[in-house]
Amino acid sequence: MTYNAHFRVWRGDASGGELGDYTVEVNEGEVVLDIIHRLQATQAGDLAVRWNCKAGKCGSCSAEINGRPRLMCMTRMSTFTEDEVVTVTPMRTFPVIKDLVTDVSYNYRKAEQIPAFAPPPGLAPGEYRMAQVDVQRSQEFRKCIECFLCQDVCHVIRDHEDNKQSYAGPRFFIRLAELDMHPLDALDRKQEAQDAHGLGMCNITKCCTEVCPEHIKITDNGIIPLKERVVDRRYDPLQVIARKVLRK
Ligand code: SF4
Ligand code: F3S
Ligand code: FES
Repeated sequence: MTYNAHFRVWRGDASGGELGDYTVEVNEGEVVLDIIHRLQATQAGDLAVRWNCKAGKCGSCSAEINGRPRLMCMTRMSTFTEDEVVTVTPMRTFPVIKDLVTDVSYNYRKAEQIPAFAPPPGLAPGEYRMAQVDVQRSQEFRKCIECFLCQDVCHVIRDHEDNKQSYAGPRFFIRLAELDMHPLDALDRKQEAQDAHGLGMCNITKCCTEVCPEHIKITDNGIIPLKERVVDRRYDPLQVIARKVLRK
């Protein structure tokens, strides 16, 4: 069944822009990215949009659809009624390059600041041994496709540009949690998360978890356990004594 949908798509660049109104054909089974591609092919040849896999796996086609951070390739047109206006805007937390394409390099800078997995000295690759339960714990976090929708929705940086310097955001809190839960990782990820990456600024609004297309329980399984371990480390009397003795 075919119908014409009313799309409003943000057009512009770093210097400013506005929503453009378009009427675009929709066919049964299509997703928002199909409509954006049809719009590009028929009416707006210079419309900038980033995409790659069209299967919810590359994390490229992130945008805001009717104000909600979503993957365009995983948002079915059947989500909306035929007479509903569908508004597509770029992710608000990152600077616009052109139209729906944003500069997400903030995330790459944060990724660079987190040291890689660090096994204990003397243990070579091939000698790593760990229990299956530990493997499974971090498996959930490794499903991340780096779409950065969680980063886009987190109010700590969405509403406060100046926090970007000191705040890594939910995607990188789960990276730190994954490393912290790894029984062979020898670095102190708890202190790093708190001091260098602003873990304390997250006030557990859980919006990140709500928008994650991989359904990773970012807050409950990553951020909250990491926060709890930071607190344990600081206030657990045995840990305090041990740190004093070991001067750590
Ligand atoms: Fe995207 Fe989820 Fe990864 Fe965040 S944690 S970047 S929302 S896949
Ligand atoms: Fe932000 Fe998620 Fe915390 S949205 S405030 S990182 S729970
Ligand atoms: Fe790859 Fe949408 S195009 S996730």
